[in-house]
Amino acid sequence: MRILAIETSCDETSAAVVEKTGETVKLISQSTATSLALHSKTGGIIPEVAAREQSKFIIPVIQEVLEKANLDSKNPNIDAIAVTYGPGLIGSLLVGVETAKTLSFIWNKPLIPVNHLFGHIYANFIENNAIEFPLIALVVSGGHTDLVLMKSHSNITWLGGTRDDAAGECFDKSGRLLGFPYPAGPMIEEKAKLGNPKAYHFPRPLLHDDAYDFSFSGLKTAVLREVEKTTLNEQAINDICRGLQDAISDVLVSKTLQAAKEYNVKSILLSGGVAANQTLRESFEEKLADSTIKLFVPPKSLCTDNAAMIGAAAMFQGEKTDWQHVTANPELYFD
Ligand code: KG4
Ligand code: ZN
Repeated sequence: MRILAIETSCDETSAAVVEKTGETVKLISQSTATSLALHSKTGGIIPEVAAREQSKFIIPVIQEVLEKANLDSKNPNIDAIAVTYGPGLIGSLLVGVETAKTLSFIWNKPLIPVNHLFGHIYANFIENNAIEFPLIALVVSGGHTDLVLMKSHSNITWLGGTRDDAAGECFDKSGRLLGFPYPAGPMIEEKAKLGNPKAYHFPRPLLHDDAYDFSFSGLKTAVLREVEKTTLNEQAINDICRGLQDAISDVLVSKTLQAAKEYNVKSILLSGGVAANQTLRESFEEKLADSTIKLFVPPKSLCTDNAAMIGAAAMFQGEKTDWQHVTANPELYFD
């Protein structure tokens, strides 16, 4: 099966051609355009700016991936078009969804609507068929922090999620307090490498709570309090970054392992932009060193938003439908 996948839920405009043979999903071509440079100046994404940029990028990225995959852009040899239909920013989602619907109509190909959150999880299945069920998936992105139990591709239970800010949002908002451009996660990771782990001990919200919920807004407030009373020289900034990253990482690792133990899983899947954090990956690896549970993390390029993951999710979970039945849904969640 060969799919053209489209992802435009936030500030990226991404298209990919993916193929599945047996259980193996292969990425044939991918192109991702971003309007990040415009948002880094404003400290966050301005939805209308993102959508306007995406309407410029969408056709060129599709053209590029078809060309790279040696497919005819007038009548490509594909089985379906997969598109993110939510959650996300409405203007951004509409660019991808309406383009996919138009192509579905003119090429006479079925559409597969994909939940962006499952897309992140399925980034792990690209060129990897070693994953075993049952599994726990941790989705950690700018907008989401969720723990999901999957006994199979179709037996899925949402265990918990953030009550307020997502982990990535906590990195971004704390970074803003430190004067970093958006998104701050990668810069906090760099600075944290030079930070003293003992200088700041930030709270670990809900760490000892039995439920699988998260809460990161208090952590951001704790950072604010320290920023207000500290002279922000280079070392103090590095130390705050280290304290913040350790606090977020402790909570994510501990809750995920708690769920993995309770449900006796064989695999843990990390996904979403925050999973690009090397220190977080290493803390999972360290904690799982003597365990039979296998840890999977996509390559960094497939952690942040991309179309390949949408194609992969469509391969395992997708249902083909007509273009008339697909509508963007910004509020979509795990159901
Ligand atoms: O998955 P993603 O690209 O977009 C959403 O669906 O939200 O995630 C973006 C988030 C941002 O909050 C960004 O700061 C965070 O992922 N992020 C990181 C790192 N790289 C990206 N957070 C911590 N460490 C990183 N290396
Ligand atoms: Zn995302």
